[in-house]
Amino acid sequence: MIAPSILSADFARLKEEADAVPGADWLHVDVMDGHFVPNLTLGLPVVEALERATDIPLDCHLMINDPDRWAPGYAEAGSQNVTVHAEAANDPRKCSRDIRAAGALAGLSIKPGTPLDDWVEVLRDYDTLLVMSVEPGFGGQKFMPEVLDKVRTARRLVDTGHLNVIVEIDGGISRDTIEAAAEAGVDCFVAGSAVYGADDPERAVEALRDQAVRVAAYLGQG
Ligand code: DX5
Ligand code: ZN
Repeated sequence: MIAPSILSADFARLKEEADAVPGADWLHVDVMDGHFVPNLTLGLPVVEALERATDIPLDCHLMINDPDRWAPGYAEAGSQNVTVHAEAANDPRKCSRDIRAAGALAGLSIKPGTPLDDWVEVLRDYDTLLVMSVEPGFGGQKFMPEVLDKVRTARRLVDTGHLNVIVEIDGGISRDTIEAAAEAGVDCFVAGSAVYGADDPERAVEALRDQAVRVAAYLGQG
């Protein structure tokens, strides 16, 4: 799965920017509050408007404090997946229950420095795991290959039936890095600047997908 991140899109033309990536599996929406991360982006009213404007399922990545309070609203707005940060959630198990009860998949994200092992038990209650491969807050940063160890561990836990999550990666995914991520076992690739910085975003999505599919086929997962 490829999930273009609208953080790198033109915020004044969000509908056109969604229409520019018809092959996207999910549209990744970075919600930042200026507290959990040192940047401020958009919130629920924009997500509600975008939901009405596109058929592409929304993948909301909440980089905010107290997601327990706000996450269910993003699910009620019709998002397909709502991800909260493990480092920010007060009660991650309740968060997941509330997101699911409001009709979305529940995602848990971990920052590059957050160990996966601490969250494996909690992840039994989640549908997606978002492994950050940059420090959250900004697009266009350099991919951190060291997080791929966590991806490999997550892949193993899924393949052996210990977890049932979509493994998603976010940050610095491009033509240069997607193959390493695919080889480590990622299911869903978020890409901001690699898609919206390209001359042809639609083609950029397909090129990234082709690379990931080729690696998966080679590994026998395709
Ligand atoms: C960063 C965001 C990412 C961002 C990725 O905090 O969570 O989703 O848009 O952008 P690129 O792909 O440019 O690293
Ligand atoms: Zn994101």
